[in-house]
Amino acid sequence: MSPVLQSNRFMILAAIFCLAGSLATFRTEAAAKEADSKHEISAPPAKLNNATCLVCHDAGKGELKTTDADGNPKSLLGLDNNKFSKSLHGEMQCIACHQDITDAVSPHKKGPGPKANCVSCHLELWETAKKENLTKEKARLEVVVNNIEYYKNSYHARPNQDNPARPNAVCDECHHSHTFNVPPSGTSRRTDWHLSIPNVCGEKCHADQLEEYATSVHGKEVLENRNLKAADCTDCHTSHGITATLKDAFKVSVTENCGGCHGKNLTSYRDTYHGQVNKLGYGHTAKCYDCHGSHGVLRPSDPKSTVHPDNRLKTCQKCHKEATQGFTTFEPHANTHDFERYPQSWLVSRFMWGLLAFVFTFFWLHTGLWWYREAKDSKARKNHPENRGDTK
Ligand code: HEC
Ligand code: HEC
Ligand code: HEC
Ligand code: HEC
Ligand code: HEC
Ligand code: HEC
Ligand code: HEC
Ligand code: HEC
Repeated sequence: MSPVLQSNRFMILAAIFCLAGSLATFRTEAAAKEADSKHEISAPPAKLNNATCLVCHDAGKGELKTTDADGNPKSLLGLDNNKFSKSLHGEMQCIACHQDITDAVSPHKKGPGPKANCVSCHLELWETAKKENLTKEKARLEVVVNNIEYYKNSYHARPNQDNPARPNAVCDECHHSHTFNVPPSGTSRRTDWHLSIPNVCGEKCHADQLEEYATSVHGKEVLENRNLKAADCTDCHTSHGITATLKDAFKVSVTENCGGCHGKNLTSYRDTYHGQVNKLGYGHTAKCYDCHGSHGVLRPSDPKSTVHPDNRLKTCQKCHKEATQGFTTFEPHANTHDFERYPQSWLVSRFMWGLLAFVFTFFWLHTGLWWYREAKDSKARKNHPENRGDTK
């Protein structure tokens, strides 16, 4: 047999071998898939890499059913691998976060490792960065840890009233773990991210507040006009350090927050009786939102505004029960430099300055003349012969 024929025969044999081999693997894979669909896989595969997990957890693969802590049926969210790989954690292994998952079977037999949670992992990462003297290079990790600290003392970290086993809100409910990304500042994606805040707070948990906010001057500016300068939920409440709104600390701080954007109104407010009391830390006096509302703030010219001239008395009467129409002539933002808007305050202020100037001028003139006279008198007395000692 020629060597050519021989090698040809060898090739054919090899090909048959390969075919048989791959058929065998195909059959085992198919069997595995079949067993899988019957939830019968028992031996964990050697690899627990992301591709393995995505065989079942990919968003495109149909819904997975499970039960929640109370035993009620619940469908699991699938994972969009495209979004996941672009997220901050896109390079990570699923099981780096899901340490309780130690197999790739359905249902899982959970291991003793902790469930995925942002907090413990990031506290550790930051500790390591500190030990390795990499705090400058990893400064962003400090931002995460700071937010964790704010969060820990916040209202959202406290046990939920209906289900004390879980907190009011966890990181994952505001930042979806598999897609969380912080777009670089200055980009349009960052703008979108920021403008989505009212919906993040409102859609799942605070629908009533969102509904009212959407009709307010701030809500319209943010949601309709994409105005980054107007107040969203976090400008008044903060994002991670959210406190109970009934506490004095909130009442005082929210006033400062309004003032951060409405500086002139804060200054004029501070000059009034209400503001003087507030500055001392009292939460009971009239604060910005007692007069303007909180989620439904409208322009004072809007007939529905709580401070529109037609509604103002009712607003004052919330606290000043006996107030009559005359009471509302009090200007909560009177500004003595603005003649056009507050002519009375301007006039009164100018009159007071005038009076002061007159009184002082008169006083010093009078005193000056008095001294002049004194000086003259005493000189005259010195020159008097009786005082010179040249008599006798
Ligand atoms: C064979 C299909 C399959 C594979 C492969 C698979 N899972 Fe699952 N997974 C499920 C099913 C079904 C559930 C719901 C039942 C349960 O909790 O076990 C689930 C639930 C989960 C949950 C939610 C658990 C909970 O208590 O909320 C996590 C997290 C999870 N899987 C992660 C993973 C990770 C990580 C991998 C890869 C190592 C993986 N899964 C591989 C089918 C699978
Ligand atoms: C950066 C950490 C992190 C990575 C990486 C990660 N996850 Fe998660 N995952 C979480 C957190 C946090 C939750 C919410 C935890 C909870 O509710 O118990 C979650 C929830 C889940 C759930 C439950 C979803 C539901 O509807 O309750 C599944 C399933 C899941 N992850 C699968 C995966 C798979 C598959 C991968 C890899 C492709 C992956 N995760 C990668 C952190 C992560
Ligand atoms: C199991 C560990 C683990 C979990 C759980 C985890 N992360 Fe991370 N996270 C990392 C690692 C690792 C990095 C990359 C660190 C680095 O750059 O050195 C990172 C990076 C980040 C960054 C980016 C820092 C930067 O460089 O800009 C943010 C923000 C962040 N994580 C927030 C979260 C949030 C929010 C959660 C929960 C939804 C979470 N992480 C859950 C490990 C984790
Ligand atoms: C109640 C909702 C809510 C919860 C709960 C929450 N966050 Fe946030 N977080 C936000 C909002 C809103 C922003 C955006 C703030 C902004 O644009 O000014 C944000 C931003 C961030 C950022 C980016 C900050 C930056 O400047 O780049 C990180 C990191 C972060 N959160 C981590 C966490 C961690 C970790 C947890 C859990 C301990 C958590 N968050 C819990 C609402 C929340
Ligand atoms: C993040 C900045 C920000 C914060 C915080 C903020 N506002 Fe505003 N506010 C704005 C912007 C921007 C407008 C729209 C201004 C415009 O278009 O004239 C506005 C409009 C208003 C208007 C209507 C002004 C007019 O000229 O008609 C009132 C009243 C008002 N805010 C009251 C408040 C009160 C009360 C608070 C606190 C409870 C507050 N704001 C917090 C930014 C803010
Ligand atoms: C202009 C400032 C401001 C903005 C913007 C704002 N809030 Fe508030 N919020 C307040 C004030 C002030 C209170 C407390 C007084 C009150 O109850 O009216 C409050 C109270 C709350 C409460 C406690 C319950 C209640 O209604 O009294 C929740 C929940 C809340 N806000 C959620 C939100 C959400 C969600 C958003 C965004 C859609 C938002 N807030 C936007 C100022 C604001
Ligand atoms: C005692 C009630 C009262 C309090 C407290 C109050 N305001 Fe006003 N505010 C009014 C009235 C009434 C008007 C409309 C008449 C005017 O402009 O003087 C007004 C007008 C405004 C306007 C519209 C723009 C302007 O200057 O006319 C803004 C913005 C505003 N207030 C913000 C604030 C902020 C911020 C605070 C807290 C630091 C505050 N207000 C506290 C009653 C109040
Ligand atoms: C949230 C409650 C509250 C609201 C609303 C309120 N005030 Fe007041 N106001 C107070 C308190 C408290 C004092 C301090 C009273 C005291 O110490 O006797 C005060 C004091 C005053 C004073 C000086 C003291 C006095 O009684 O002569 C004037 C003037 C005044 N308020 C006008 C107004 C006007 C005008 C409005 C409506 C635009 C208004 N207030 C709305 C709580 C409020």
